[in-house]
Amino acid sequence: MTGAARLAIDGGAPVRAEPMPMRQALGADERKAVLAVLDHYAESGADPGYGGPFEQAYAEAFTRKMGAGFADPVATGSAAVFICLKALDLPAGSEVIVPPICDPGTYGAVILAGLVPCLADAAPGTYNLDPAGLEKHLTGRTKALIVVHAAGLACDMTSIMIFAKAHSLQVVEDASQAHFARHDGVPVGRFGDVAAFSTMYRKAHISGGSGGITYTISETLWQALLAHSDRGKPSWREDFDDRDPTQFLGPGLNFHTDEISCAIGTASLARLDDSIRARRGYVTAVCDALSKIDGPCRPMTGWDGDISPFILPIFVDPDRIRVTVKDFANAVRAEGIPLNPHYEYCASTWPWLRPHLAGPCATPVAERATETSFALYLNERYAAREADDTVEAIAKVSKGLVR
Ligand SMILES: Cc1ncc(COP(=O)(O)O)c(C=O)c1O
Repeated sequence: MTGAARLAIDGGAPVRAEPMPMRQALGADERKAVLAVLDHYAESGADPGYGGPFEQAYAEAFTRKMGAGFADPVATGSAAVFICLKALDLPAGSEVIVPPICDPGTYGAVILAGLVPCLADAAPGTYNLDPAGLEKHLTGRTKALIVVHAAGLACDMTSIMIFAKAHSLQVVEDASQAHFARHDGVPVGRFGDVAAFSTMYRKAHISGGSGGITYTISETLWQALLAHSDRGKPSWREDFDDRDPTQFLGPGLNFHTDEISCAIGTASLARLDDSIRARRGYVTAVCDALSKIDGPCRPMTGWDGDISPFILPIFVDPDRIRVTVKDFANAVRAEGIPLNPHYEYCASTWPWLRPHLAGPCATPVAERATETSFALYLNERYAAREADDTVEAIAKVSKGLVR
């Protein structure tokens, strides 16, 4: 290509030779928090189990940040979704409208809770559920709706809650990818009946390698969440005796987290606002710069306001490039920019899920979205230079591979 610099995939010098900063989510504060647990239990002579003061402090810190309600730290995000669904006590075989792009754990939770997922489609230009397309999925068996705030962007919860209320649907928010993103100033997780957060090591705030939180505004549902997170125990009752299974309310598994994880969670949560601010700075700089370039790439729709960036999806116009979108993304990656060249999380493309779905579950908008986008990885250590390099790499590849 005349005038275009030689691309790194063709042997040219990459835009970014030095690796982008690693996140290193466990820092000095988390280290101190872990040592505080060990010290506390060494002094008390007890062993650090679960449900102790560090878990309580984490639940309280999370609830305070949400502004109200009840939180329960658990083992994983997928477990949190499962617990939420069990707490709603839906009739076996009920249909649940689910989003088109999400982690397999969320669909697995629906199926293993004895419910039937029904895929709805995405809003154009995003990975999020399209509230306008929900009505056609209603049947006499539809009892709930799962909303995922994908990539760090809150869904249109105003429209979704109007729809849910009109059709008496229970709502589970999966806020795993959007910790404390807001819709109309309200943090995600506050809109539905119950909410699930993954706090595994890649999420905006973490409680270690794996982790999760369930959340609700309702005390009754919180009690149901507690019971379903630990073998049916009514642990909120004053007279509850943990060693007396005759008091347990029903069958349940154990999805407990532990004291060390919760101490890490509290420390990580305390840094979350700074992390979100830094991530937003990177995302805003990339989006602003891309909007000024007349190229095939544009960021996902809606990247402004109260986002909590997890990844930054970049949409590519396939008609304007002379390779596939995946090859284009790989060329950007070769320039030294970490990314996922093809976001494979469009559930309608997974063979294993199909036999479990209710009826025809085509999601053409979501399929097109994942076919024509790639996801930039990001973390709170990315700053202006990383944004400049990202934009320069995209601009270079756009120029080199333009049709
Ligand atoms: C939206 C979403 N839901 C659920 C999960 C599952 O969480 P976990 O990996 O903690 O089980 C993830 C990813 O990890 C996710 O991104």
